[in-house]
Order: sequence, then C-alpha cells, then structure tokens
Amino acid sequence: MPIIGSAVQFSRTGNPVDVVEVEEISTPDPTEGEILCQIEAAPIAPSHILTLSGVYGDLPDLPAVPGNDALAKVIKLGSGVSDFQIGDQFLLPRGSGSWRQYATVKAKDIIVTFPPGGNPLQLSMLLANPPTAYLMLTQYLNLQSGDWVIQNASNSSTGQYLIQLARYFGWKTVCVVRREESLKIPEKCGGDVVLVDGTDLAERVKEATGGADIKLGLDAVAGSATERISSCLSPKATIVNYGLLSGEPCQVKANDLVFREITLTGFWLNKWLREKSTSAEREQVYALLRDLVVKGILFAEVEATYPLSKAKEAVAHSTNGSKRGKILFTPQIES
Ligand SMILES: NC(=O)c1ccc[n+]([C@@H]2O[C@H](COP(=O)([O-])OP(=O)(O)OC[C@H]3O[C@@H](n4cnc5c(N)ncnc54)[C@H](OP(=O)(O)O)[C@@H]3O)[C@@H](O)[C@H]2O)c1
Repeated sequence: MPIIGSAVQFSRTGNPVDVVEVEEISTPDPTEGEILCQIEAAPIAPSHILTLSGVYGDLPDLPAVPGNDALAKVIKLGSGVSDFQIGDQFLLPRGSGSWRQYATVKAKDIIVTFPPGGNPLQLSMLLANPPTAYLMLTQYLNLQSGDWVIQNASNSSTGQYLIQLARYFGWKTVCVVRREESLKIPEKCGGDVVLVDGTDLAERVKEATGGADIKLGLDAVAGSATERISSCLSPKATIVNYGLLSGEPCQVKANDLVFREITLTGFWLNKWLREKSTSAEREQVYALLRDLVVKGILFAEVEATYPLSKAKEAVAHSTNGSKRGKILFTPQIES
C-alpha cells in the first residue's frame, strides 16, 4: 500500500517563498532492493534557494520536491534488502528531494548509515557542507601543522565546519564575517582570528596574525569580497570560490594575478561526487566526517526548525539576513 504524507513541491522557479507549496503526495511501497523511509530532519541550504530561484548549476525536472540532504529512518523493506533493519537511520541519497515526510529509495544508493541515537538535526546536515569544507581544505594545498587559511562567510554552517576541521588537523583560521553580530559563531567554533569584513581587511589580518603567510583563501561570497580575501594572501596562494552569496562575479586585481601569481579556482561538491571521486574515496570521506559528526567534533548552529506545513515561513526565515544558524524541516513533527 502506498503511504500518504506531506511534501513541499515546486512546479515553477521564481521567488522561493512564492513557488513552494505543501501537498499530500503518495509514496509507493518499496519494491525489490528498495527501502521506504521517513524523513526525520532536512536542512534548508543556499543551494536549495538557488534551485527554487532557477539559477543553480543543477535543476530538476518540475514539479519536484526541493531539498537534497536529510536524515531518514527505515520504516519498510522491499524484498532482497538484507543490510538494513526497520529503524536504521541513514543519509538520504542525493537527488531524492528531502523536504517530505516519506521517500522510497534504492538501498544500493545509500552511502552513509548512522549508529542509533545522535542528534537528528546535526546528522541530517552531513551530506553537503562537511565534505565541502573538508575537500577544500585538503585538495588544493598540502597544508602543514600551523599553516593559516582565510575564509569569509565564516558564520555559515560550511564556515563552522571549516573551522572545526582546521582545528582538528592543526591548521589556523582567519575567519571573516560580514556583520558584527556574527562574530560569536566563528569564535565559539575556535576560529584563531575572527574579523568583520571591510576595505582595510588586509592590514587587520596582517596585524592579527603577525604577518603570517596565508596560502589558501576560501570564498563563499564572490564580488568584491573575493578581492579582499586575495589582498590577505601571500604570493602564489590559491583562492577557492565555492559560493555566490553576493550574486556578483568574483573580482581579483590583475596585479594579484600577474605579479603575485594568485590562483583563483572554483569548487563544486556535485562535480566531485559525480566525476572527480571513486566510490572508495567517497566512502572514506563520508566515514571520517560521519564519525566526527557523531562524536560532536563537527556541528553547526541551528536557529529554528519548522514543520513542512510552514514551508513558506521556513524558506523566508532561511533567507533572512539576521539569522544565527541553520533552518531545518522536521517533517515528522506537525507543529
Ligand atoms: N560549491 C559547493 O559545492 C558548495 C557546497 C556547500 C555549500 N556551498 C555554499 O556555501 C555557502 C554557505 O552555505 P551554508 O549552507 O553553509 O550557508 P548557511 O549556513 O545557510 O549560512 C548562509 C551564510 O551566508 C552569509 N551570507 C548571505 N548573503 C551574504 C552576502 N551577500 N555576503 C556575505 N555573506 C552572506 C550569511 O551571513 P549572515 O549571517 O551575515 O546573513 C551566512 O553566513 C553558500 O554559498 C553555499 O551555496 C557550496
């Protein structure tokens, strides 16, 4: 028997708050090799907002259920599924659409399972931001103990994971935020130097780090923010842009590119997952990060949770510039 439950859907792109609708949908019984699961928690990420707006790198056929990441729990097994039991919790496979109460997934697509217990909100955020932080810290430079990294949007959840991972591996972080009220989050995560962005960023960074060489800059904002990160870096350093929070093209001074040989490149997790990694590498990365999340070494601040019935309020809240943590759906909780 199919199961009926709520799901957020969108059938056109545009203003994210306008395009999301909550509907009752039917989720089929699991067939051979499939699992029927209930979604326990599903975060709202900037990439989901870009998808609803129609400007993300990957757009689904419409109508679709938004969201990509979620903690799911097994409620029914299809025939031939022997590796799972009712109640097991796992990360919903990518591309399943996560803002829903129920989903049917193929057991072979599940790459992360969790031990019983744990904080469902924290577990649900493992799919995208922790590996993004980890891969950007490890794939571009061979950082040594005590090396410095600079990042902006440091109070974002990706920024928080970056700080926690850098500390775990023995690297130091300069953490830039765009407003005074956001300083507390990177400070709490253990950022070594935490500053508000501004035109004199390079001088303040130099003073705070004692003129340290900074060879890696991580930029989620783009626009003039990229140039300010660039101005803090040592010659031959690399800037990795991974977000377009400002909506502006990345700016870097020609002097920095030509005379100081700064390299600007981009990172997209979807590319790494689809084309640039083997299944063994993906399993290795997620196993490490899963353990760090389960142990509480990696965590992200949460501002609020919403039931699916309040999808419009949740989406509006997630794009509100004054929030202090993630907004998540808890689809099994009705109010
Ligand atoms: N390339 C990839 O594969 C990949 C993977 C994961 C995430 N990302 C990107 O990483 C970024 C952070 O994602 P998240 O899920 O960690 O975010 P999040 O926790 O939802 O936080 C959003 C952050 O964006 C900041 N922000 C929004 N607009 C900004 C602007 N115009 N200038 C500066 N900061 C701004 C917010 O600062 P305030 O608190 O001041 O509003 C907040 O720190 C996003 O751009 C996302 O798309 C990329």
